[in-house]
Amino acid sequence: MDHPKSYRILLLGSGGREHTLAWKIAQSARCSQLFIAPGNGGTGSLGINVSLDPMDFAAVGSFCVREKIEMLVVGPEAPLVAGIVDYFSQHEALSQIMCIGPSKAGAMLEGSKDVAKQFMQRHQIPTAAYQTFTQANISEGHNYLGTHSHPIVLKADGLAAGKGVLICTSHEEALAEFDMMLDGKFGSAGTTIVVEAFLSGIEFSVFALTDGKDYVLLPIAKDYKRIGEGDTGLNTGGMGSVSPVSFVDAAMMEKVIARIIEPTIRGIQTEQIDYKGFVFFGLISVNGDPFVIEYNCRMGDPETESVIPRLKNDLVELFASVHNGTLNTQSIDIDPRFATTVVCASGGYPGDYRTSLPIHLPEAHPDSMIFHAGTKMTDSGLVTSGGRVFAVTSMGDTLAEALDKSNSTAKEITFEGKYFRRDIGFDVEH
Ligand code: AMP
Ligand code: GLY
Repeated sequence: MDHPKSYRILLLGSGGREHTLAWKIAQSARCSQLFIAPGNGGTGSLGINVSLDPMDFAAVGSFCVREKIEMLVVGPEAPLVAGIVDYFSQHEALSQIMCIGPSKAGAMLEGSKDVAKQFMQRHQIPTAAYQTFTQANISEGHNYLGTHSHPIVLKADGLAAGKGVLICTSHEEALAEFDMMLDGKFGSAGTTIVVEAFLSGIEFSVFALTDGKDYVLLPIAKDYKRIGEGDTGLNTGGMGSVSPVSFVDAAMMEKVIARIIEPTIRGIQTEQIDYKGFVFFGLISVNGDPFVIEYNCRMGDPETESVIPRLKNDLVELFASVHNGTLNTQSIDIDPRFATTVVCASGGYPGDYRTSLPIHLPEAHPDSMIFHAGTKMTDSGLVTSGGRVFAVTSMGDTLAEALDKSNSTAKEITFEGKYFRRDIGFDVEH
């Protein structure tokens, strides 16, 4: 019998999401060699870390030619929005490489809130009512803000590292923020502003892997964005996640699929957008009806850390199916247990924090995995190199059991100033 083909794979990125993807890819018999660029202190034990900037497409391309890479998996959004997949398809020496990630046209569903809103409008996908403004129609913007009810949401159109969304509770605040955004508060990301109605409800994240025609759904998750317990304080990249999410039952998923996922994938197909990769649906349940808060063109972080460990399928085989048109023959096999992720951050994060602090790692609980995010291996050992340092994921038959394991492992990780939320999952049923 023929052995299924295995691939030389390059994974781009350096966070907890990428450590988790590397961990999953490394388990696959379909991976013959894994490189991670630039990777972190954890990925180096699963493959070879390569010092490459994912935004330097020419350098990434040369590496792929030199190392005979056959599959490129793009973790973060920035290279996708900048067109790395188009770059590969336009260069003959790279065009045969299977890229996991959408073309620029697909990535713009994340790269421009206005593009995403127009797409949803064209395909009747439920989302908050909105208007888009620039310097050119600034006075219309002022009038709109003046008559709109509160709270009101202002969003920088472009990528703003999760910081470009402001929820304003008064006319005065909205007007002041609107003008500051057009004056460059978020740089070029904010020269176009999407103003939208505030939706009140509970958020959750749904992930699909698609070839632009067919799709499979991954486990659902919920992330915790605020730094403080009880969802208080500043927004962060994410302080934890849980999967599954008790309030997202079969009836809710039916609505999500019929009203949001199917029309999105059909829209991508009918608009002939080249999309071979993950779609992340950031959703909110408003009185039992799902609405789209945002699209992302990649997996979430730290959702990946609780979603991917529940996926029993061979991820590289799924990626290969995305490319050879057999995604419709794949069925997703999900571990029924709960997965919970607790992020250990540097003291001061999301504000200023120190780096290069030495780390001592405990023996993880047998049902726990310590995924590295902001770490670096140096001659003198493992040190911190970012705001979010580790993501501890644990499996359990109940949410409470999984959380206990994550919290106790998080407690035993030591580096100066370590902080983690002890209440991840507080708002979903235990
Ligand atoms: P985004 O960057 O679009 O994900 O927005 C960041 C966060 O702002 C979301 O996770 C929500 O918590 C909140 N948010 C964004 N849009 C709205 C909205 N229309 N109504 C209520 N909250 C929102
Ligand atoms: N956890 C949210 C994100 O990855 O954007």
